[in-house]
Amino acid sequence: MSDTAIGAGTVLGRDEYLQAVETVRAAAGVYYATTEVAADAPSGAGVTVLDDATYDQLVRDIAATEAAHPQWQVENSPTQVVAGAAGDVEHTVPMLSLDNVFSAADLLEWHAGLAKRLGHEPRYVVEPKLDGLALAARYENGSLVQIITRGDGLHGEDVTFAVAAIVGLPATLARPLTLEVRGEVMLTDTQFEAANELRLANGDKAFVNPRNGVAGALRGSRDRTYIIPMTFFAYQVLPLPDTYSGPKPNADIAYSAAIELLGELGVHTAATTRAGIAVVDTLPQAQEYIDALLAARADLGFGIDGAVIKADAYADREAAGSSSRAPRWGTAYKYPSDSRLTTLEEVIWQVGRTGVITPRGRVAPVFVGGVTVSYATLHNPNDLARQGLMIGDTVMVLRAGEVIPRIEGFVAAARTGNETEIEVPQVCPNCGGEIDRSQERWRCKQGRICALPQAVRYAVARDCWDIESVGEKLVRQLVDTGLVTDVADLFTLTQEQLLELDRIGEASAAKVLSEIEGAKAKPLARTLTALGVRGTGRSMSRRIARWFGTMEAIQAATAADLEEVDGIGPEKAPVIVEELAELAPVVQKLREAGVNMTEPGLSGREAAARAAESSAEAAALLPLTGENGKPMTVVVTGKMTGPLAELSRNEMNELIERAGGKSSGSVSKTTGLLVASESGSSKYTKAEALGITIETPDEFAERVADFLALDE
Ligand code: IVH
Repeated sequence: MSDTAIGAGTVLGRDEYLQAVETVRAAAGVYYATTEVAADAPSGAGVTVLDDATYDQLVRDIAATEAAHPQWQVENSPTQVVAGAAGDVEHTVPMLSLDNVFSAADLLEWHAGLAKRLGHEPRYVVEPKLDGLALAARYENGSLVQIITRGDGLHGEDVTFAVAAIVGLPATLARPLTLEVRGEVMLTDTQFEAANELRLANGDKAFVNPRNGVAGALRGSRDRTYIIPMTFFAYQVLPLPDTYSGPKPNADIAYSAAIELLGELGVHTAATTRAGIAVVDTLPQAQEYIDALLAARADLGFGIDGAVIKADAYADREAAGSSSRAPRWGTAYKYPSDSRLTTLEEVIWQVGRTGVITPRGRVAPVFVGGVTVSYATLHNPNDLARQGLMIGDTVMVLRAGEVIPRIEGFVAAARTGNETEIEVPQVCPNCGGEIDRSQERWRCKQGRICALPQAVRYAVARDCWDIESVGEKLVRQLVDTGLVTDVADLFTLTQEQLLELDRIGEASAAKVLSEIEGAKAKPLARTLTALGVRGTGRSMSRRIARWFGTMEAIQAATAADLEEVDGIGPEKAPVIVEELAELAPVVQKLREAGVNMTEPGLSGREAAARAAESSAEAAALLPLTGENGKPMTVVVTGKMTGPLAELSRNEMNELIERAGGKSSGSVSKTTGLLVASESGSSKYTKAEALGITIETPDEFAERVADFLALDE
């Protein structure tokens, strides 16, 4: 039984300890092996038996137990050797793993230990900890000759056959050097989506998530007729013994310079991604990068599970040395896990405001991504059937950043036989009417009429028409009495009609009507949002309105035209076209009622056209048009003051977009401007380090003054 806790780990009893070692090694075998789940397993089953957080906790318990009872330590303990299945290619130098820290305090302790060992504080490089599979790639005289997996750290598996599928590992280097590059191969978010489209088109099952997909993609490139592109990110370079001809990274240059050299040779590294890498002289600076990277995690476009901090100078690395499992010169700073395993208890079918019917899973509450999750969205009904998910399954819940938690897949090995089928609705769960199953996403045949109250509530919300006096009860009455049959009917309501309703006096009727009158003048972006076009939310609606400038232009847009808008791809564009056609009668009613159908200022499309003619002219067009004629990326942090004090974040975003920019939540190399009320935040420090322009809210208000007035 567990007794005393040491550090972050719990001291286990002897049997528990041995069991934990076995469990960790078995899980690592699944994770690192390039084998897929059995071909006949349901496709949602590609999830490992342990989630990351549980795995890390077991390793900490094992370490704590070994500290308390050194005589119990077994040879193949995960604290001693790299867990994984051995291959038949010997590594030139063992491919080690990394130790982990989980907090700023842990990191400080680790740093103090290293500084003491070295006799000085080292300069560090801090990088993203990439969540994929480790590979070693050998180059001879500039030619790629072999790619090997990590295996058990001493022997890996030859996967050279995957060369054509791996972006970022060129077949020839820019110079004829002989060296070994090590790094992580991953499916980026875009590659993951493309991979699943390809797999489905070829009759294969979709990958559950990028991390689990990469092993399958790697192995699949041996015998499949289609190639699934993956991306390599280098984090180490070693000279191959004897034959090495170029500058010797180990002796002549530091790691940060070696990474730069790799980039020049044509190898992909994290340095050129949105995450970037940081070379820092102090621990607080390293911590700043670690915090900023965590904040940017959801927007990177690839999966990370932490940051890696490592000594830059090879002399420091040599002096610090390594254990049999991991180096002492670097450590991984693990972020709170964004995916956890839990049990699927129920599936609830919901009808959204556009009539789309979606399944939502109720799960045993689980702490993931910083919150306790009890409900998570599921894929569409056809996907559910394809995956073979059942009630009672052990499912992986993913919550990346602020996004809604999602059920990603399940553990086939955890099935007990007591799981039950998910019942799929035969009629619309809202109105009992027929379901249109012709598309991937099922929809009530009544469409948005089925969920009219929700649609009206959405349209009058603050970020849309902002008609506060039309509350939930009034919406019910308006719909029930038939006064409102679509959102446009709001604009033809009369005082007499309102007075006939229960509990509405003259004063409230007048308030409702005056707010409705005010809504008529709102910018097009608000009206487009209020319409609730399927496949778009607030920010997408704003981008569409800004880009086209008028409702006529939006209605005339083809799918190809829509794809010019940032964030609209080939899947979304036709849905939007179809939706706009369906909504045309409502739009016509709005127009007739005198609702504004234009967005103030120059449309994005016109600005881009003018920019193409002359970029100098374009720069002068709008205060937040970048030098290249494209929207400048603006990040806002802290409390707004002065003329901006009253604006919600959504209104700030609207303002930025009206003035020609685009807003983002995190600072990166591509940021054009940071608006910050005070210094000292991690965004501020990062922007400062990257040389990004920083303005106070008052300075910014002045810059966009012309556009601010439009809000009133
Ligand atoms: S440095 C001697 N840097 O994480 C090992 N590793 O959990 C030096 N990883 O084995 C590794 N991102 O496969 C390093 N930026 C990064 C990394 C990274 C991911 C992997 C690597 C390592 C594992 C440890």
